[in-house]
Amino acid sequence: MLSIKLTDKKFWDNNVEAYVFLMKENLDSASDLDSISKIETDFYPHLKQILKRHKFNGQKGQSYVLTAEKNGKLLQFFFVGLGKLDQAWDRNLEILRRAWASAVQRMKHLSIESAIVALPETEPFKVSSVELLKQLVINSYMADYEFIQFKSNKKDDWNCQLFFDVIDEDFTGFTQALEYGKSLGSAINTARHWIDLPGNIIHPGTLSEEAQKIANEHKNISCTIFGHERAQELGMGSFLSVARGSEHEGKFVILEYKAADNNAPTIALCGKGVTFDTGGISLKPSASMDGMKYDMAGAASVIVLMKFFAQLKPNVNIIGITPLVENMPSGRASRQDDIVVAMNGKSIEIKSTDAEGRLILADAICYAEKFHTPDIIIDIATLTGACAYAVGHLHMALISRDEDLKNALLASGKLTGDKMWPLPIDDDFVLANNSDVADLSNTGARSYGAGTITAACFLEAFVSKARWAHLDIASTASDAPGINYLGKGATGASIRALADFVISHGKQDSLIKNLVNNG
Ligand code: BES
Ligand code: ZN
Ligand code: ZN
Repeated sequence: MLSIKLTDKKFWDNNVEAYVFLMKENLDSASDLDSISKIETDFYPHLKQILKRHKFNGQKGQSYVLTAEKNGKLLQFFFVGLGKLDQAWDRNLEILRRAWASAVQRMKHLSIESAIVALPETEPFKVSSVELLKQLVINSYMADYEFIQFKSNKKDDWNCQLFFDVIDEDFTGFTQALEYGKSLGSAINTARHWIDLPGNIIHPGTLSEEAQKIANEHKNISCTIFGHERAQELGMGSFLSVARGSEHEGKFVILEYKAADNNAPTIALCGKGVTFDTGGISLKPSASMDGMKYDMAGAASVIVLMKFFAQLKPNVNIIGITPLVENMPSGRASRQDDIVVAMNGKSIEIKSTDAEGRLILADAICYAEKFHTPDIIIDIATLTGACAYAVGHLHMALISRDEDLKNALLASGKLTGDKMWPLPIDDDFVLANNSDVADLSNTGARSYGAGTITAACFLEAFVSKARWAHLDIASTASDAPGINYLGKGATGASIRALADFVISHGKQDSLIKNLVNNG
């Protein structure tokens, strides 16, 4: 357990086990030069030579630990390199996140019980120190995450008190940033834990119970869950066509947060929740089925975001909708060539039962439009394998025809390190989903290529009034290469960016109203 606090005591007056120094290249301190000189006066007069001898000069990716003794107590000095910080502000911010994450992970390895770090000067990052604090608090949680529930030889929990030195005027701002960071950091790790849990543990029933628990714990969130009977009454033939193949009944979950202001705009977040994707009758080959427990990452993100919003109380109404199913082959599963009808009356020819994400999201979008008439719908889905080829494993694919909405999301991605990259969409792609026998086919024609875009076009067919954006997180939801704070397994992709998008627009009421009115 991490316990993160602010301190307005002088850096060295904090009685902790470890002192962390974020150092720029050539041993310029990015945090506080006075703090370093204190090590020279009190402990190591030749500190610079020692660091040099051990080849630590503050380069990006370097770290070094020195131990000292004070009144019979061991102290640790952690030096972490930030490099020159001469890149674009968002890259510099990412360098800071990774440097801090490496310190957190090393402190965890050494079971450090208390530590302090000073916030760096803001200049290279072009954001306020309040924002820097928020980013580092979130990042502390992310760096600490490991999926070890089933390891019988797991170590004891790491308990550490982390102090951020924020000697500054804006103590209220810092306190809010701390609350934001704690709430979001733990939300992200909860989502990562659910996403990492295998399909024999997390299925539509258990995941919907987690959503219900969140509503039980937060009075400002309501939760509606229904199964096949109600889905049938509502005409959700598309959702049911996937759900029916499994022994686990599909669950349709709606979490609702209402803003205090009656005129607040409404955002619907729809998350794909396939707790395991075998492909169904269009069965995946075993190698491609590996990792299909991650196919509910969109839903997990939406559910934890709702908890976060319940705590942060933005001035925006938010509806979180997660259709939860297990995609299995069975005597009740859909066949290829089946025709089903979604809630809005559109008929769909199922050319592949493995393109199931769009089938369940179609009804989720229809439901949002029919019962909540949101101003904005954003869907989040591990939708297409093609996404890995289109944008790789470090960016989510963002598809929207709405330039303002797209730019606002891109900006949130850039600030939070939860990166997105836009893909094109226009009427030409729409034709890719034509069917000879129904209104739509659930697989884009091969001749169009761009499986990520044609899948998005399919979803767009179910949006009626709202402004809409689609995030394909198929290639970012798990196993992001080379990012220390994402580690192995689930990453929590989209949560940081969506939190920022909703909260910053919620705060700047005028901004979201513009966004809404421009549409
Ligand atoms: N869940 C998969 C997408 C996926 C693939 C996520 C790899 C993560 C890693 C999705 O349901 C799927 O199987 N999509 C098919 C669509 C195709 C049949 C049109 C795909 O991408 O192959
Ligand atoms: Zn599939
Ligand atoms: Zn899937």
